[in-house]
Amino acid sequence: MDKETFRKEAHKMVDWMADYLEGVEKYPVRSRVKPGEIYDQMPENAPEFPIPFEKTFEDFNQILMPGITHWQHPMFMAYFNANTSYPSILGEMLTATLGAQCMIWDTSPAAAELEQRVCEWMRDLLALPKDFTGVIQDTASTSTLCALLTAREKYSDYAINRKGFGSMHKFRIYCSEHAHSSIEKAVKIAGFGQENLVKIECDEKFSMKTAELEKAIHGDLADGLKPLMVVAALGTTSTLALDPVEEIGEICKHFKIWLHVDAAYAGTAAVLPEYRWIHKSMEYADSYVANPHKWMFTNFDCSLYYVRDQESLIRTFEILPEYLKTKNTDRVNNYRDWGIQLGRRFRALKLWMVLNTYGAEGIRRLYRKHIEITEVFTEKLQRNKDFRIMAPVFLNLVCFRYQPEGMNEDDADAMNARILDAINSSGHAYLSHTRLHGRYVIRACFGQTRVEWHHMERLYEELISVSGLECESPEIK
Ligand SMILES: Cc1ncc(COP(=O)(O)O)c(C=O)c1O
Repeated sequence: MDKETFRKEAHKMVDWMADYLEGVEKYPVRSRVKPGEIYDQMPENAPEFPIPFEKTFEDFNQILMPGITHWQHPMFMAYFNANTSYPSILGEMLTATLGAQCMIWDTSPAAAELEQRVCEWMRDLLALPKDFTGVIQDTASTSTLCALLTAREKYSDYAINRKGFGSMHKFRIYCSEHAHSSIEKAVKIAGFGQENLVKIECDEKFSMKTAELEKAIHGDLADGLKPLMVVAALGTTSTLALDPVEEIGEICKHFKIWLHVDAAYAGTAAVLPEYRWIHKSMEYADSYVANPHKWMFTNFDCSLYYVRDQESLIRTFEILPEYLKTKNTDRVNNYRDWGIQLGRRFRALKLWMVLNTYGAEGIRRLYRKHIEITEVFTEKLQRNKDFRIMAPVFLNLVCFRYQPEGMNEDDADAMNARILDAINSSGHAYLSHTRLHGRYVIRACFGQTRVEWHHMERLYEELISVSGLECESPEIK
C-alpha cells in the first residue's frame, strides 16, 4: 500500500467507523452465523500476490461483519461490558500508527511516563491508597497472575524463581466460590496446582463467609500447609457481590497472608463519591486490579494493576539481558519488569484521552445514568409478580428469573433458558446467564456507552413478550 492509498482508505475507514457506531442498532446484537461459516469463506492459503485493499475491505464487510457480535450495541447487556468511546478509539488509532513497542523507558519515554501519570490519576480518582503504585496490564487475568507470582516469590524469598518449587509444594490460595475463573487459571499457571485453590462458601448475598475462611486457614496450618494468598472479590462476576474486605484483611494481617483484591468490573465505580466506600478497606490490600476496559469507556485491553510493594513485583519479573541494558534504569520505570510480557502496547494513551475528553465528571454522569436505568428496570421487574430478583442489585447489574406462581423450579430453569435463547436469537438484545443456588438466572448489565432509557424499556417489553409465549421457536417475531 502506498501513502496515497493509505490516506484515501484511512479517510474512508474513519467514515465507516463513525457510520458504524451511529448505525450500530441496525445489526442483530449477537452474530447469527453458524460455526464454521466464516472459516469456510476464507481461502485455504494465504494470498501469494497483493489483493487491492478495496477488495479486502469489501470482504471485511461481506464476510466478516455478519460474524461480529456488536459489543457497542446499546442492547448489549450480556456478561460485563467491554465498552468504548470516541476518544478511546482515536487513542487506539494513534497507538497503532505510532506502533511503539513500549517495553522500556528508552523505547518511548512518553509511554512510560504517561502510564505512570495516568495510573496515579486513576489511583486518586478511585480513592485507592496513596502508597499504591500502578501499571497497566492487558487483562485482570494477567494482573491476578502477577499477584500470585509475586506473592509466591516474596514468601519463598525468591527461591522458586531460582530453583523451582523443589519441596515447596505447600501453598494454599483462597477465594470465594463465586470468584472469577481467572483465579483458578492463574493458580494452575503459577504452578500451585488447582487442588490448592480453596473455594470458600458464600453467604446468602454471595459474599465470602469469613468464618469459613478462617476455618480453612486453621485447618491448612494444622496440616502443615502454607496459606499464601486470599483473593477478595469486589464485584463477583455472577452478581457483583462484594466480599467483606475489612474482615478478610484482618485475617490476612493476622496470618501474614497476601491479600489481592479483584475489582475487575466494579472497581471503577469508586470514581463516584457515593461509591468510594467500596475501597474503604484497601489499606489491607497488597495488590488490586480494576479494568477501565470493562465499564469505563476504554477499548479492550486496559487493566489497572496496583501493588503496595513495587520492589517485590519487579524482583519477581526482573530479567536483564545485555541487549536490554540502558543508562536510565534507576530514574525511570522500565515496565518490562512489571509483568509477564516484554513487549508492551501504549495503552496509557487511550486511557489518557478518555480521561481528558470526559473528565471525571463526564464519567460520573454516565455511570449515574447507567445505575438509575438499572434501578428502574429492577423496579419494573419487582412490580411484575411473574419475575423474581435473584441477587442484591448492585451498580448496573440485575440477576432475575421468570417464575410465575405455581411453576416449579426445574420448569422455571428450562423456561428461563428458553427466554434467554429467544431474546439472543432475535438479535434485539443480548443477555447472559448464571446459576445461583443451583438455579438458572438471567443477567442484564446496563453499562454500554450508548445505553439509554428507551433501551431498558425495550428490553422489558421483549421479556414480557417472550415470556408470554411458549417459546417453542427461538425467534420472537
Ligand atoms: C470479577 C472478574 N475478575 C476477572 C475477570 C477477568 O477479566 P479479564 O478479561 O480482564 O481477564 C472478570 C471478567 O469478567 C471478572 O468479572
